[in-house]
Amino acid sequence: MSEYKERIIITGGAGFIGSNLLLNLVPTYRDRLFINVDCLTYAGNLLNLKDIENTDNYRFEHIDIRNYESLAECFRKYKPTGIIHLAAESHVDRSITGPAAFIETNIIGTFNLLELSRKQVESGDNLRFHHVSTDEVFGSLGDTGFFTEDTPYSPNSPYSASKAASDHLVRSYHKTYGLDVVTTNCSNNYGPYQFPEKLIPLMIRNARAELPLPVYGDGQHVRDWLYVEDHCRAIDLVFHRGKSGETYNIGGHNEITNIELVRLICRILDDLLGGGPYERLITFVKDRPGHDRRYAIDASYIEHQLGWVPQHTFDNGIRKTVQWYLDHEDWLESCISGQYLKYYEEMYDKR
Ligand SMILES: NC(=O)c1ccc[n+]([C@@H]2O[C@H](COP(=O)([O-])OP(=O)(O)OC[C@H]3O[C@@H](n4cnc5c(N)ncnc54)[C@H](O)[C@@H]3O)[C@@H](O)[C@H]2O)c1
Repeated sequence: MSEYKERIIITGGAGFIGSNLLLNLVPTYRDRLFINVDCLTYAGNLLNLKDIENTDNYRFEHIDIRNYESLAECFRKYKPTGIIHLAAESHVDRSITGPAAFIETNIIGTFNLLELSRKQVESGDNLRFHHVSTDEVFGSLGDTGFFTEDTPYSPNSPYSASKAASDHLVRSYHKTYGLDVVTTNCSNNYGPYQFPEKLIPLMIRNARAELPLPVYGDGQHVRDWLYVEDHCRAIDLVFHRGKSGETYNIGGHNEITNIELVRLICRILDDLLGGGPYERLITFVKDRPGHDRRYAIDASYIEHQLGWVPQHTFDNGIRKTVQWYLDHEDWLESCISGQYLKYYEEMYDKR
């Protein structure tokens, strides 16, 4: 371990963004050790990481961030020089029916990581703490305007409230204890390895199975979509070059209503699969409570300060994404059937 001068814990590395991040960072920085700390909830899937699982500079630790003692053991073992914290309960719908897990993981889990980071720094070993958060902490916009880093917090769901609380804790550890922190607040991500309860993979999977395509309310909710690789590049930049104590908003300049997005996916499926029009499967369902109307990010701060710009246009990103899910039906089914748990037992528990 000590042969690696930099040892970076990625929490939630088996989830959607975490696995895309690890698949990018591990081969890019062969001289750094990456430790994936993940407890494998329904949303964590080790199959995502098959391409790097046997790489020298990658380790997996099956740890629940709610468990302070297990995390403390992990800090003792690796003495991390950096944390990129993505582990979270992330699905708004689930936060409405079962908020407790969101409070425990997103708030207490973040607190545990901050406490251990503080203690490590106080004992003389520095680290940088990068907190990955969401634009949902800012609440809902009207027809115009954008979220900036100065927009007041106004979370509307237990998910966004728990993320807001964790953002505040991170800020307070910088202000109170001088912990070296950076926070990023990103808009909706899309791309490979997203659990198929989220809008885009859900629509593709349902269309393929000739199931209804459920759209909340009138479908006029607006989201700003960013291709996951562009988010990962932004995290890499902010983690390495972001100013301590700063927050950076990240967004794709890609505003689209949910109904337009679902229609676009249907048209792409018509082209790729035939058997359309898939639009016939669209079904409007009762809106969810507290459903934010519009999110949109002003990303000019990270663009000017760190030179980040998204490299994917929405047109090519969404086509690539639809094609990826069509090519990875087995992966989609592994999420639903829990096959990845069997895989995990075989790969890790028997070592
Ligand atoms: N997906 C988006 O559009 C988006 C946008 C902005 C910010 N974010 C933030 O990015 C982060 C990652 O999001 P995602 O979409 O990849 O989420 P995800 O739900 O796909 O993955 C979350 C991962 O965290 C792990 N995890 C959950 N609870 C844990 C716990 N108690 N201990 C250890 N591991 C645990 C899960 O097993 C899973 O691997 C989250 O913090 C989320 O708030 C997501």
